[in-house]
Amino acid sequence: MEPRLVRQLHIYRNLSSASRALAGHLVQEARRAVQARGRFRLVLAGGRTPQPLYDLLARRYRDSMPWPQTEVYFGDERCVPPRDRESNYRMANQALLSRVPIPRRRVHRMPAELHPPAAAAAAYARELRGAAGPADASGTRAVFDLILLGIGEDGHTASLFPHSRALGVQRSWVVAVPRAGQPPYVPRLTLTLPAIASSREVCFLVAGEDKAKVVSAIFDAAPRGTPALPASLVRAQGPVSWFVDRAAAADLPGSSRGQGLGPRR
Ligand code: 6PG
Repeated sequence: MEPRLVRQLHIYRNLSSASRALAGHLVQEARRAVQARGRFRLVLAGGRTPQPLYDLLARRYRDSMPWPQTEVYFGDERCVPPRDRESNYRMANQALLSRVPIPRRRVHRMPAELHPPAAAAAAYARELRGAAGPADASGTRAVFDLILLGIGEDGHTASLFPHSRALGVQRSWVVAVPRAGQPPYVPRLTLTLPAIASSREVCFLVAGEDKAKVVSAIFDAAPRGTPALPASLVRAQGPVSWFVDRAAAADLPGSSRGQGLGPRR
């Protein structure tokens, strides 16, 4: 199925309530995926924003998430060792993966410490090809069930930075990014837009007044999106859901606030 943009906006009082809502949604989707296909393929986001969500999944949903049937991947990684304080894997492992009964073989870490980064990207792409899910009834080869993403103040998502060459990559699912456009300024690995678009759903989690300007710019962007705001180019097989706190939604015009299921909560 052609990826599309069906955008749903959910606005919450703060990051804590947005994280609670997204955690409940994610667990519900996990159960549905396992019931329908025996697996739930989840892609984790890096950065600081998802940490309360990961903590919730580890504490409140430890026993209700189908961890043994969950496959975890990463949307991007900094090219540092997995124990480095800048590693997204380290953050996710501390906040979530080391605290839940997920078999280690189901945690697919990006080997971003390998050199050169292009070889590391190719290795991860091979691992993803092994994961390509069975064609579902409609014949699509949706690979992931749910991808979590954040955005930077410059509109980047994963490690897809404004106007970067990675935005034009159509035939690879993982690429190396030599120069990050935001700290930490280290080379990165990132899923490409086609890889993200292979997911049944994409969920953005965004909070804080420092993101208000870019959230508004993304929602105001032309429907096809713009390479100046990579998050506006994100598509999925199903909904692109935004879980946003009021501070980050502050600059949205009133009309955008009514989109999707998003009454102000
Ligand atoms: C990364 C992330 C990146 C992140 C945004 C938002 O490796 O940094 O994948 O895309 O989601 O930069 O980061 P914060 O949540 O820390 O604001």
